[in-house]
Amino acid sequence: MKSKIEELQHKITEAKLGGGQKRIDRHHQKGKLTARERIDYLLDEGSFEEVGILVTHRTTDFGMENQQFYGDGVVTGYGTVNGRLVYVFAQDFTVFGGSLSETHAEKICKIMDLAVKVGAPLIGLNDSGGARIQEGVRSLGGYADIFYRNVQASGVIPQISAIMGPCAGGAVYSPAMTDFTIMVENSSYMFVTGPNVVKTVTNEEVTSEELGGASAHSTKSGVTHLTAANDVQCLEDIKTLLSYMPQNNQETTEKLPFELGDEFREELANIVPDNANKPYDMRAVIDGIADTDSFFEIHKDYADNIVVGFARLGGRSVGIVANQPMSLAGCLDVNSSKKAARFTRFCDCFNIPLLVLVDVPGFLPGTDQEWNAIITNGAKLLYALSEATVPRVSVITRKAYGGAYDVMNSKHIGADMNFAWPSAEIAVMGAKGASEIIFKKEIAEAEDHEAKLAEKEAEYADKFANPYRAAARGFIDEVILPEETRRKLIKAFAMLEGKKVERPNRKHGNIPL
Ligand code: HXC
Repeated sequence: MKSKIEELQHKITEAKLGGGQKRIDRHHQKGKLTARERIDYLLDEGSFEEVGILVTHRTTDFGMENQQFYGDGVVTGYGTVNGRLVYVFAQDFTVFGGSLSETHAEKICKIMDLAVKVGAPLIGLNDSGGARIQEGVRSLGGYADIFYRNVQASGVIPQISAIMGPCAGGAVYSPAMTDFTIMVENSSYMFVTGPNVVKTVTNEEVTSEELGGASAHSTKSGVTHLTAANDVQCLEDIKTLLSYMPQNNQETTEKLPFELGDEFREELANIVPDNANKPYDMRAVIDGIADTDSFFEIHKDYADNIVVGFARLGGRSVGIVANQPMSLAGCLDVNSSKKAARFTRFCDCFNIPLLVLVDVPGFLPGTDQEWNAIITNGAKLLYALSEATVPRVSVITRKAYGGAYDVMNSKHIGADMNFAWPSAEIAVMGAKGASEIIFKKEIAEAEDHEAKLAEKEAEYADKFANPYRAAARGFIDEVILPEETRRKLIKAFAMLEGKKVERPNRKHGNIPL
């Protein structure tokens, strides 16, 4: 018996060495943690249970039968993060560059299936040279098995992908179908075709980092939701992200202990400038409303004319979608619409209530926007908010003009509570533009055109640059003082906790993709 136990211990020791000490050292020299170190850091101490440690590949081509590593380049299993169950896989770059074989894929699929059956988040730590070249189509099939499961799990359990090394070719499509992607700066990249192919096909000279590094995907493409300075920060971000989510779509997020006190926030009164054309930082409003230091921003550097992220209100998780007057005056454009729509849909999948902060002068004009389908893309946000059945509350801080008023969680598209500050202006358009159109004749006939325009502008602003007409119609439930906002919102969300919405029976809607 002793020798049998020794045999097992030997196998486990070998498995834990991955591709061997030399490769581990090389990996460390790049500033990266190994797959096992990453899992150890991510999960609560001692909570990890490995599944499939003794799996080996079945390839016999290219002399592969003589190159066997227990685990086959991926560590899979389950454990807890802050006491809550999660399933995790971490690709081990020290074994065949973390490349994905048929058996490697089977291991990932096995824990994905468990995660869905049990109802707990799936976390993928990706670090891989892609399809195991020696396996050909079996590896491609393995990828597709994972993609298929990503889709089946979508909206059932939260799925988070960390990119902690290479992620190229079709491999990028698994992270792309999960809920959140986090890239580590300077040591990870994602692209469908790498620099060599790009050079051959388009003659462009570009480095891997320029083409698909964390910076490119956090600012230009929006493929990644977060970036982290290093592996440790990335794993910390995953823990933070998880803290705002429920385990699955049947649950709500746990309420953190929170003692309500005086929720009056004086500082909110001085954020919106008197001059309607002066920008201000909507993040200051968010910080004033949310529990202290609870705001966790998503897609920070992408489409910064809209701010999205998680926060807590009285200990409860909420998703925030907010126009940002500091960028493009807070206009909605193609990218901000897509960004906000995607975030809205995540919150709706997982029963996270939505708070929408509105200061929007309209959709961004221009050929660039029209030709890049602001119609279809703006419709994504309109659709996403209209279909969301979670508690939905809006606060209009300043402008709510035109179609963007409708889109930004108006009462008409199903918002539950709509508040406005006294500084709110709810109108078809700004006073100047409106006066130029409807008083065109009068202005043209006046001796002093400028003076007439100013007079008419003031007249129009007096009528519409306020929240009271909308409040009189019931489109706004209450005009509130900024400093009361936090108190009002905590009460409104508590009131909405039992919200239930029946939707017509259908297979699924047809969001304008
Ligand atoms: C098998 C691989 C591998 C792969 C790397 N290795 N990628 N083995 N299949 N795809 C092995 C290497 O042979 C090497 O083995 C070890 O992993 C480390 O690789 P290095 O090249 O030494 O590392 P590095 O210099 O850091 O470069 C990493 C890399 C490079 C940029 C990822 O290895 C690379 O370009 N690999 C090929 C990438 C690729 O073309 N993959 C297929 C993409 S198509 P030893 O024994 O020397 O340590 C694809 C389609 C997916 O993935 C489709 C899904 C639908």
